[in-house]
Amino acid sequence: MTPSQAAKSANYRMEQSGSNPLYDGRYDDANPAATIAPPVQLYHPVFARFIDDVNNTALEIPGEVLVATADLMHKASGIYQDEDARKSKIRPALKKALSLDITNLVNDDRTSPDGGIMWTISKPEAALDHTVALAIKEEKRELGEGGCDPSTQASFSVQRYWVQHANNALRALCCCPTFLIAFAGPWISVLGAVFTDKCIPQRLTDFIWMGNGSVFNSHACRRVARVLYSLTRSLHELRRYYTTLPQTGPSTRFFPSPKEFQCPGSSTPVRFEYAEPLERDAGCVAFLCKTKEDNQSIVVKFAESYCSEAHAHLAAKGMAPQLLYCGPIDPSPGAPSYGGLKMIVMEYLEGKTVAQVEQHNLPGDFAVQLKKIIGVLHAGGFVFGDLRPPNIMVSKDKVKLIDFDWAGQMGIAQYPLHLSSRIVWPEGVGPLGKIEKAHDLAMLQALINPV
Ligand SMILES: Nc1ncnc2c1ncn2[C@@H]1O[C@H](COP(=O)(O)OP(=O)(O)OP(=O)(O)O)[C@@H](O)[C@H]1O
Ligand SMILES: [Mg+2]
Repeated sequence: MTPSQAAKSANYRMEQSGSNPLYDGRYDDANPAATIAPPVQLYHPVFARFIDDVNNTALEIPGEVLVATADLMHKASGIYQDEDARKSKIRPALKKALSLDITNLVNDDRTSPDGGIMWTISKPEAALDHTVALAIKEEKRELGEGGCDPSTQASFSVQRYWVQHANNALRALCCCPTFLIAFAGPWISVLGAVFTDKCIPQRLTDFIWMGNGSVFNSHACRRVARVLYSLTRSLHELRRYYTTLPQTGPSTRFFPSPKEFQCPGSSTPVRFEYAEPLERDAGCVAFLCKTKEDNQSIVVKFAESYCSEAHAHLAAKGMAPQLLYCGPIDPSPGAPSYGGLKMIVMEYLEGKTVAQVEQHNLPGDFAVQLKKIIGVLHAGGFVFGDLRPPNIMVSKDKVKLIDFDWAGQMGIAQYPLHLSSRIVWPEGVGPLGKIEKAHDLAMLQALINPV
């Protein structure tokens, strides 16, 4: 099936419940599969940089980019006789706005996206001459024509591009970061894709209106120009990445790219390597890692929010793993912000979660220990919120809490927007509701007196 066929809803639905789905978050309603992956910016910082640039209203956009964008918007407002007529007008205008060449691209199975921004990695010393797609573009004359969403078609196209035999060597080396451009009528969207053991395409912008909607269009033009200019900057960064990518060495494709953290009070970073994900599901963002210096086992995880104070409060009493770092993913000056995502590094506990231990194998004083921990947490002015078996560990007969993503100050901490419907939550728990001490106590009761 070609990418354009696969992207049509009946086929897309089948693909998403099949053995090789896109990990883009879409699922077949009649046969749901977990297709949500960690954010692509964790795998490659070029996407984090792009998101920062797109959101940076102070980004200085060169005059020629603004002028070229205005021309592109004028041409995107045209309604064309056929796709070729549109292409002949749009492609040169888009090339000019991006200051990058867009060429035809044919895969070895003869499928062909609407265009690509290609780059040849030339390393005579390594006898290497390899062309990579930095970006893949799918176009439609109008939104809705062709029977599929061009951003979905571009997602299938990037998957098809990277699984080609000719790309095996590169695919084994890195996560193949690629931008995708979906462009239909006067609408454009930019996506980022990586290929770990699965293809993960993610929307980095919404569909942006890029027609001339009124006589006063300069504000809209600046907005579109910022997206295009951010894309140009990111594509240059991607060129540098592929050019300098070591051709031998361990693969970097399966794990996030951040590989160091700064211990509080120390000026030298601690470097580490990823060993394995700590959960089986595709969305896992917690990893067992080894420090480079002394091969210590540590846990590195990523979260939108994390209560380091509650964690440290319990860790000081041996009731949680030692917390080694909680802060920005890359604190170095000029580094991308990763949208405020945090990196958390902690001691690795030998042991199992309560979800993995048979009830009769729990320590005899399990209930006493857990009650004490919750008592200490509450006495410190904190609530936990997610007191479930996978978030409690037993290590050498000691009970410890992990996962302080929801924890926070009593009276302030809130449940997240989405609460799993597969879990029976205590009375009064709801999305964005306050996390109450009483909820923790109800969950504690359910754990120590299971019915
Ligand atoms: N310090 C640790 N030592 C050993 N194993 C750990 C540690 N922290 C986490 N784990 C393992 O990793 C799993 C996921 O950890 P955690 O719950 O903190 O991550 P998460 O990203 O919040 O996951 P989820 O959303 O599934 O709760 C735990 O269930 C546990 O098996
Ligand atoms: Mg958890």
